[in-house]
Amino acid sequence: MTLSDPRHVYIETLGCQMNKADSELMLGLLQQEGFLPVLDATRADLVIINTCQIRENAEEKAYSYLGPWGKLKQQHPNIKIAMAGCVAQQTKEDVFKRAPYVDIVFGTQNIHELPQLVRRAFSGNEKQVVAVDRQKDKSTFDYFSDVTQVRESKISAWVTIIEGCDYFCTYCVVPYTRGRQISRAPESVLEEVKRLAEAGYKEVTLLGQTVDAYGKDFADRSYRLAELMADVNALEGIERIRFMTSHPLDLSDAIIEAIATLPKVMEYIHIPMQAGDDVILDRMRRGYTAAQYYELVDKLYDRIPGVAVTGDYIVGFPGETEAQFEQTLYSVSRSGIHFANTAAYSARRQTPAGIWEDRGEGQVPEPEKQRRLQLLNEVIRDQAMSIHQAYEGQVLDVLVEGKSKRNAERWTGRTRNNKVVNFSSPLPEAQLVGQTIPVAITQAYPFSLLGVHQLMPAPQQAGHFAVACS
Ligand code: SAH
Ligand code: SF4
Ligand code: F3S
Repeated sequence: MTLSDPRHVYIETLGCQMNKADSELMLGLLQQEGFLPVLDATRADLVIINTCQIRENAEEKAYSYLGPWGKLKQQHPNIKIAMAGCVAQQTKEDVFKRAPYVDIVFGTQNIHELPQLVRRAFSGNEKQVVAVDRQKDKSTFDYFSDVTQVRESKISAWVTIIEGCDYFCTYCVVPYTRGRQISRAPESVLEEVKRLAEAGYKEVTLLGQTVDAYGKDFADRSYRLAELMADVNALEGIERIRFMTSHPLDLSDAIIEAIATLPKVMEYIHIPMQAGDDVILDRMRRGYTAAQYYELVDKLYDRIPGVAVTGDYIVGFPGETEAQFEQTLYSVSRSGIHFANTAAYSARRQTPAGIWEDRGEGQVPEPEKQRRLQLLNEVIRDQAMSIHQAYEGQVLDVLVEGKSKRNAERWTGRTRNNKVVNFSSPLPEAQLVGQTIPVAITQAYPFSLLGVHQLMPAPQQAGHFAVACS
């Protein structure tokens, strides 16, 4: 049964790329039910918040959307409100205690059930609808082949290849909200990428919380990320392959070789270190030492010319001393990273570290966490700026994604090592978007580059041409 009138759906997405990919899948499933996406929640019949639980403020942000939506529902009682994502997965029915006006709560493994959950909610027979307890199995990704995602970009697409995480770092909710690691069958991934290429997509980002662990759980074959990259590389139409997030323990030599040798795989690796001190790394249960991490990034710089390595850090982990924090500051220059996401440690009660406080294991005071965070951000920004200054005067290949959001006169795209480049060009949109073009970099910023479309051949090419003609 399809709902009779065209109805409208609005999705607010918080959290990581996995959530962005999930929201695009939800829109695809709902489109099949006759829902049209809208960009304004007040025009929607169904509003969905896709939530993140990684830190306390992310969780609070989720609820901060629900309050106004609850008020909207008082004026328009036919609106249905749904909560999805990592908070929904963990909080389950208890969401209703805090937000009784919510109609549907569904978890990270129940997305495929969304059409029938929505039908049940709109039928009016049930007060509240909940689906949060599906176990993962081989069929986890089956429904992907029946859905066409409604994607934000027409050029670059997220492709989920592995779900969940088996690492259980002591601070992190992800293994609880996303469950155990499970890899999607290569046939299913390749079919999706083929469809993307046919639809004109140029770039795919292979996604997973530990994307480089892809294939570890296959019992019946030996096929890992390096093999998948090679198979995607062979598909016509796709020009660039990205992948994230990598875990240092899973970044094998085979993957490094694949990045170094497969022409479509971008020279970009997001591989979080989290902390620079061995005692803290051990208490985080990361499974590697600082020296091992440095050895790995040294190998990357050595084997992959022009590679950009980025990461994540947490400051103020329980018991982190000033000297241990200084190891994190030092690690920025030692690892030569181009950028890192940073966060003040946030205690999550579902995790081992979240209850250490109860055992008297010192939480770093909030103002001190904020001081460390600011200091670390400054060090990262300064390093990013000096790395970026070296690009001034160079001509880089940029895959054009669209108009710059900040300046309507400019276009935006990315280099092969994932630098955002904003640039001007006299050419019209049809000749730019989706094309890879040369851009002369005129100015560096810490988090982006500014440039001009290089319409004339570069000087050395002109010289070469002159020689060839003479
Ligand atoms: N799988 C990735 C990270 C996924 S979570 C990895 O292992 O690197 C994204 C980031 O959120 C983490 O890298 C970490 O820096 C941050 N994070 C996770 N739990 C956190 C917590 N309790 N407090 C603060 N930051 C946290
Ligand atoms: Fe969280 Fe650690 Fe898994 Fe990353 S590897 S998702 S930080 S538990
Ligand atoms: Fe957040 Fe869940 Fe992603 S907790 S970071 S949305 S996997």
